[in-house]
Amino acid sequence: MKIWVTVGALAVVAACAASEMPGPSEGAAIFAENCVSCHGVSATGNGPLANGLSPAPSDLTQIAARNGGVFPRAQTLSVIDGYSKGTHKDRAMPEFGAQMTGEDTVPVEVDGILTPTPRSLAALLAYLESIQG
Ligand code: HEC
Repeated sequence: MKIWVTVGALAVVAACAASEMPGPSEGAAIFAENCVSCHGVSATGNGPLANGLSPAPSDLTQIAARNGGVFPRAQTLSVIDGYSKGTHKDRAMPEFGAQMTGEDTVPVEVDGILTPTPRSLAALLAYLESIQG
């Protein structure tokens, strides 16, 4: 009986640690692997594949500036994930949602509501928020 209590407590601690919002550096690593080809190392939209893409890859350091100084979390998550597909039929940007299904989720505050979000998506969000110019 005592053993079970101990194991249970450890599981709760592990779950708490895993469910914290990841930091920008975790997102930076994912960005380097999946996004710099188009958005560029500095995220300003000048990656090696950007040439000839129409529309051109966005400058991701200006997302908040383009939105009146407020970082639009819901919209940004949906662009990366690909839920906004229906409204962007000719999008040049690939959808990353499919490769994130099955990942552990972390709660991310979106429009005041804690929303379970795949960990790598949450990390990318933290990174993008950290580079707003
Ligand atoms: C194949 C090239 C390509 C890759 C790879 C790519 N993007 Fe994009 N991205 C684009 C293009 C082109 C746009 C602008 C037009 C559009 O929405 O399709 C864009 C737009 C965006 C926007 C919207 C910006 C705004 O102001 O609304 C975000 C956010 C974004 N990308 C994030 C990412 C992230 C994060 C990754 C990596 C997980 C990524 N992109 C990978 C091409 C790409």
